[in-house]
Amino acid sequence: MNSALHKPIETPSQIRRLPMTLVNQIAAGEVIERPASVVKELVENAIDAGASDIEVALENGGTTLIRVRDNGRGMNPTDLALAVERHATSKLPDDDLLAIHFMGFRGEALPSIGSISRLTITSRARGAVDAFSLHVEGGAVGEITPASLAGGTLIEVRDLFYAIPARLKFLKSARTEITNAVDIIERLAMAHPDIRFRISHDGRMMRDFPALTQDWLSAAPLRLEKILGAGFAANVAAVEGEREGIRVTGFAGLPTYHRGTNQAQYLFVNRRPVRDRLLLGVIRAAYQDYLARDRHPVAVLFLEVPTSEVDVNVHPAKAEVRFKDSQMVRGLLLGAVRAAIGATSQRASTTVAEQALSSFRAEPYGAQEAALNKISGNPYAAPAAGFAAPNVPLWGKEYLPPQHKAQAPQAAQVAAYADAPLGAAVAQLHNTYIVAQTKDGLILVDQHAAHERIMYEKFKAQMSADGVARQMLLLPEVVELSDAQAARLLARTEEWAKLGLILEGFGETTVLVREVPAILGDSDVAGLVRDLADDLSLYAEGLALADKLEAILSTMACHGSVRAGRTMRIDEMNALLRQMEATPFSGQCNHGRPTYVSLAKADVEKLFGRR
Ligand SMILES: Nc1ncnc2c1ncn2[C@@H]1O[C@H](COP(=O)(O)OP(=O)(O)O)[C@@H](O)[C@H]1O
Ligand SMILES: [Mg+2]
Repeated sequence: MNSALHKPIETPSQIRRLPMTLVNQIAAGEVIERPASVVKELVENAIDAGASDIEVALENGGTTLIRVRDNGRGMNPTDLALAVERHATSKLPDDDLLAIHFMGFRGEALPSIGSISRLTITSRARGAVDAFSLHVEGGAVGEITPASLAGGTLIEVRDLFYAIPARLKFLKSARTEITNAVDIIERLAMAHPDIRFRISHDGRMMRDFPALTQDWLSAAPLRLEKILGAGFAANVAAVEGEREGIRVTGFAGLPTYHRGTNQAQYLFVNRRPVRDRLLLGVIRAAYQDYLARDRHPVAVLFLEVPTSEVDVNVHPAKAEVRFKDSQMVRGLLLGAVRAAIGATSQRASTTVAEQALSSFRAEPYGAQEAALNKISGNPYAAPAAGFAAPNVPLWGKEYLPPQHKAQAPQAAQVAAYADAPLGAAVAQLHNTYIVAQTKDGLILVDQHAAHERIMYEKFKAQMSADGVARQMLLLPEVVELSDAQAARLLARTEEWAKLGLILEGFGETTVLVREVPAILGDSDVAGLVRDLADDLSLYAEGLALADKLEAILSTMACHGSVRAGRTMRIDEMNALLRQMEATPFSGQCNHGRPTYVSLAKADVEKLFGRR
């Protein structure tokens, strides 16, 4: 055979191995996004080194200098040289990716940082007499030289991203970068109250969290109070739960202690801060009953999971984790958080009382609720004895014509409810608040919030009986939606029927509403259906049906409730007060705001110097 015929023609090779510095810079692209990422990696290394005191100093938002000093176990010269090599780590002694007991394990932070900045590491191994130093500049590793250092490790990162200027363009203002770095420190500090953390910028101390010597469970709330503000401890409930070796502890904010973003939700898996979509979704689900869509609870939750049950190697910066049995973790967390907030459902946040009533020097909100409990025994069971609601519908077709004017109460009406826990209605303010006179004070009711809670509890009661009672519309309501919204809604027609809504598709983008929940009366059906379609698009696929239902009932209740701005007659107001007395959780609307506030007569007297 003529071998020449089969000899492949040589073409120039197109594939090459990348130089190590480039490899490290590519890794840095994932791991080091901004100065705060460097802070995170270096401080995690210090924690892994067993430090009890960690000090971070930044200059110019961290762009010219990031310095981290720790008093951990340090490194000897051999380890120092290895530390800046790619995939070199002391943290995977058994080659077992499912037994990770440190914050780090990928062995890429230091080489990545060294490839894009001027990095100097100085370290003195515990017990050693000498310290050594190593400089890496744009990936070029220098010689190990003797240095002087009392102990631990000192890392200096100068001119971050100088070697890959494209990244510099993505940096935000110094202030934003500092905020991010402080956030990293706070998250790590929450999980490690026994370590002292300090962070300064351009010589100014930004945060200083002293080490706490108490056991973890008592130290954690003290550290959290320092980070999340005074008032944290007074406005949270302890969370505790355990299932199949997985433990959750932490603190769930009262529904009335809410924020505008979910930034105050802190999640930790084996003390590692994570921002996990699954876990954040669970928090939202747990509070669905209590909070408006645009309000977010405060929560700090620590999950302790056997290392074999969780994979932390799913995200380059380790911000996400994957659980072996995510449904179980989800159930555990949801149950524990719900139990915690359920146990405090009659407590409203102290901030409500302080902010809204400070000028009145009112007793803390909730005292009235306590009084109510005393008077009617079990406030959830039945209307307060002897104070039957006047037979006045608050919703539906019999609603007041808009021209109707509120009238003054008859003396007889005031007398009839003089002893009722929520008193006798005497006036309406701004068509929004009901003023009621109680035996020893006065209360102010938010009519929409209160009615919404009542409607919600009615829906819930009907659901747990035989489904929501329906009422046929004379003419079906025609609702135009996007095709995605329509499809999402119509995919669940059977479930909607149980909730009292009979929906029918009509072309790609039109939904016909044939029947609505009877308790909704004459509300804006199209608006309701649109809101429900929005609701559906918000929930993660993984959420259980029951969780969605609660939010959906809440949307329905909102639509069926007396609006703020609606004039009410005295007998209607009294009817509402009596229903509140008979309704569980009536002190708080579905969105976590209080439904009423109270002021004792004694306090009114103090205001006027009568006491
Ligand atoms: N502050 C420190 N104190 C002691 N040892 C350190 C410190 N920082 C880094 N090291 C050592 O350098 C190694 C490499 O660090 P790094 O690149 O962050 O990777 P990883 O943390 O994933 O191991 C670590 O495994 C550790 O042994
Ligand atoms: Mg590391």
